[in-house]
Amino acid sequence: MPVSIDYTGKIVFITGGGRGIGLAITAAFAKAGATVIVTYTSKDPKDVVKKISDEHGVPIHVYYCPGEDTARVNEVIELASKEVGEVDVVVPNAGVSLWRETVDMSDSELDWIMKTNLYAPITLCRGFVRHWLGMGAAVKTEADPGKPTGKANLNKRILVVSSISGVVNMRPQRQMAYNVSKAGLTMACKSLAGEWAKYGVTINSISPGYVATDMIKDPPPGEGATWPKVWMRDTPVDRFAEASEIGQMVVLMCSQESSTFMTGHDLIIDGGFTTY
Ligand SMILES: NC(=O)c1ccc[n+]([C@@H]2O[C@H](COP(=O)([O-])OP(=O)(O)OC[C@H]3O[C@@H](n4cnc5c(N)ncnc54)[C@H](OP(=O)(O)O)[C@@H]3O)[C@@H](O)[C@H]2O)c1
Repeated sequence: MPVSIDYTGKIVFITGGGRGIGLAITAAFAKAGATVIVTYTSKDPKDVVKKISDEHGVPIHVYYCPGEDTARVNEVIELASKEVGEVDVVVPNAGVSLWRETVDMSDSELDWIMKTNLYAPITLCRGFVRHWLGMGAAVKTEADPGKPTGKANLNKRILVVSSISGVVNMRPQRQMAYNVSKAGLTMACKSLAGEWAKYGVTINSISPGYVATDMIKDPPPGEGATWPKVWMRDTPVDRFAEASEIGQMVVLMCSQESSTFMTGHDLIIDGGFTTY
């Protein structure tokens, strides 16, 4: 039997889906027939996603949604589910990096990395699972957050974009906060896989190596000029990934037919970086 990667009739929600790896994930799902919901914070990607939408003949909807604004995140979950339809696949992809020696780092920088890379994906996933369970995305009060109904067979997929920075200490740049945020995120997925299996929700992560996007394109002048050479030297395939190579893997990993028994897994996609 051929493995189906036909997402016709499925709805996929991708944070930061208008740029970089997120845009490649958007394009890969659109190519596979999915309706896509994309969030952004800095620049409305409606023009770029319209091209993808026209090319593949699928709708792509765009919502403004800063990941650290939990109230807005919960609002978007409810709004998009109503306006577009019930989401089948969630891809928390948005993330930020910071190259900084820890002794030079401010509290607000540390907060920014943790809130964007670690707390935001967790609150987004919690909001969706609560919504799917009929509890409402938002936790109403800490004293009475509401009660799930017990077992459920939701058949939903969550695929989180983490990083090999959560597995190994990248060099020569210093990015302790980013590394810690991604290590925490990968572990959050494993923990949530255990919690949400009873609801029929699988949650996995991917850990890419270096991918040619805005995130790595501007090392600081001076010492940073040599970094890309080092990054490439340490990557056995001797190049950075194209974002499309990541997008395609995400589509494969989220198939509702073929990925039913995979949960709590982290897939490293790094051109061999972590084999050294
Ligand atoms: N590039 C790499 O080498 C690499 C390697 C491993 C893992 N990753 C991970 O892959 C993911 C995507 O990175 P990328 O390389 O595509 O980076 P990018 O080109 O810099 O894009 C970052 C994305 O995150 C969104 N974003 C940033 N801050 C946000 C916030 N506060 N709330 C909501 N969205 C926010 C951006 O939205 P706007 O467009 O609205 O600004 C943008 O879509 C990140 O989680 C990153 O850590 C990247």
